[in-house]
Amino acid sequence: MKVLLAGGAGYIGSHTCIELVNAGFEPVIVDDFANSSPIAVKRIEEITGRKIRLYTIDVCNEEELEKVFKENEIGSIVHFAGYKAVGESVKLPLKYYRNNLDSTFALLSLCEKYDVNSFIFSSSATVYGMSEDVPYHEDLPTGCLNPYGWTKYMNEQILRDYAKVHPSFSTVLLRYFNPIGAHESGLIGDNPEGIPNNLMPYVCQVASGKLEKLHIFGNDYPTPDGTGVRDYLHVVDLAKGHVKAIDYSIENKGSIEINLGTGIGYSVLDVVNSFEKANGIKIPYVIDGRRPGDNATSYADPSRANKLLGWKAEKTIVDMCKDAWNWQKNNPRGYKE
Ligand code: UFG
Repeated sequence: MKVLLAGGAGYIGSHTCIELVNAGFEPVIVDDFANSSPIAVKRIEEITGRKIRLYTIDVCNEEELEKVFKENEIGSIVHFAGYKAVGESVKLPLKYYRNNLDSTFALLSLCEKYDVNSFIFSSSATVYGMSEDVPYHEDLPTGCLNPYGWTKYMNEQILRDYAKVHPSFSTVLLRYFNPIGAHESGLIGDNPEGIPNNLMPYVCQVASGKLEKLHIFGNDYPTPDGTGVRDYLHVVDLAKGHVKAIDYSIENKGSIEINLGTGIGYSVLDVVNSFEKANGIKIPYVIDGRRPGDNATSYADPSRANKLLGWKAEKTIVDMCKDAWNWQKNNPRGYKE
């Protein structure tokens, strides 16, 4: 079965593409490389030994996107495409709302036209907002803190409403926690532009000497060591969750929200210590003030994913730290050759 991966050259998309090939699916990547690189696709081909069908198209451009549906019998869609920098979304809300919603409109209108009934969406734990009611269960009330988060929230609602009036349609809204790590080959990984916003890419750049020290955003949270607690999961485990979600969507109709996380919370200092132990590299750090919009603790109740998808994260924090560093060490300039 052909699976359209919208934004399939990105961090999570590229890892999912590999797991889809491993599971016998035929991925078709649609990406305009606004925030990714064609080299990632070459690397996927190197890892899988397969030629990957690629369309260099902006997913928001429905007219161009239609070509993909005309030329391929698409059985399922995984929608990863979207801008994801929280801080930028506050400064440029229109950019985020337009891009992150238009892509969904274009994909859904072609689903309607070409009778595609399986749709997996990259949502985020960000939809739980500032709730401190951990672990986060899918039935908790949702609400967001920034335009990026609201685009996830709104896309979920658009997909739920579409499913209500299309009885053959099935959508799985995957709420990711904090994906880190990289494929064990060290050929693909997270490739942020400029100074990283997220913890693990920042730690990796400190380890490589590119950045001097880590700035820990607050040590006065009500957590065991005072630093923020998150549910870090290995990107390869996350990728496997998508394969399970496609299987589920073929068997079940309607819409469902599913958390993808380990259910374990690690603090910033836990991550630093694990990284140092796993890789034998010291990470100098300083404690700074809290970052606006951060909450103390976020981790998943992953029981729905266990039960409905038969999915469970398998890799440990040590695996995540080793694989993240292996990618950074082998690709100090990311995909820039
Ligand atoms: N942190 C630091 N220093 C840094 C970067 C992060 O101390 O340089 C801390 C943060 O304060 C937080 C933890 O490390 O406590 C994790 O921060 P990340 O930026 O890596 O991840 P977030 O949990 O803030 O955000 C992630 C995704 C978002 C998504 C959110 C949903 O990056 O896209 O999870 O929960 F919206």
